[in-house]
Amino acid sequence: MDIKGSTNIVGLIGHPVEHSFSPPMHNAAFKALGMDYAYVAFDVDPLNLKSAIDGAKSLNIRGFNVTIPHKIDVMKHLDEIDEVAALIGAVNTIDFKDIKGYNTDGIGAVKAIEEVTSIKNRNVVVAGAGGASRAISFYIAKYGADSLTILNRNVEKADNLANDVSSSNLINDVKSDSMSEINSHVADADILIDTTPVGMHPNVDVEPIVLADNMHDDLVVFDAVYNPNDTVLIKEAVKAGAKPVYGIKMLLYQGAESFRIWTGRDAPVDVMEDALRKTLGL
Ligand code: ATR
Repeated sequence: MDIKGSTNIVGLIGHPVEHSFSPPMHNAAFKALGMDYAYVAFDVDPLNLKSAIDGAKSLNIRGFNVTIPHKIDVMKHLDEIDEVAALIGAVNTIDFKDIKGYNTDGIGAVKAIEEVTSIKNRNVVVAGAGGASRAISFYIAKYGADSLTILNRNVEKADNLANDVSSSNLINDVKSDSMSEINSHVADADILIDTTPVGMHPNVDVEPIVLADNMHDDLVVFDAVYNPNDTVLIKEAVKAGAKPVYGIKMLLYQGAESFRIWTGRDAPVDVMEDALRKTLGL
């Protein structure tokens, strides 16, 4: 990549950032399209968040991805927040054209699933009620699911998230329940989304949230965990003849959506996926 006087800078702010997969993924995309852009990672201490945003404006930086621990706190330093990102209450992308924040994490999950099936008119079960579930649940609602059922060990958290999604008026049928009831909900579902860390490296050989015997073969099973690629849940989905959607696809499509926001161009997803796989050793 040639860095020139004219090169546009986009990047990532987080703490820490050194293991991020985003720089190789975006730089491969810019290179493939011959775009005069470079993506760099900035380790920003939480105490310096405001000055980092002010500095980015002064330096004419085009866009940022935002990761832990800044996704919530950064919102108060922006001029505008996209409607769904405001409902989610977290931002992972900033466009400095209008200092506007977006959340492409949930879009990433939706686009990953839509490689296999449409979200529209589907019955969707989401396991977990943390930050990832929140981002994904609002987008499942926005993309026209018929029903959304949020399950969590701590049922109160699932109730609260279900109430928030319901209040958005993006979807009518929102329910919550205990994780222990998952098998009965999966029996009636078209799509199962696991946002819990169950099966994540290094605890890869644990009991999955649903066994193959409790899956039907039309079920689409998305696991947000991407390390390992073949999680215990994905293995059960394959065993059941259900349709697996791998966590890496969410990373890919959240990046593709950020790319589109910053540049106004469709992202070269194949190139980005190759770079992502190489970085993750897949
Ligand atoms: P993230 O930002 O990745 O969503 P998080 O906000 O810490 O992470 O949320 C983790 C979610 O996974 C929570 O819903 C958590 O359930 P509880 O609220 O009941 O703790 C869920 N979770 C974590 N470990 C789990 C496990 N072993 N089994 C089931 N759910 C689990």
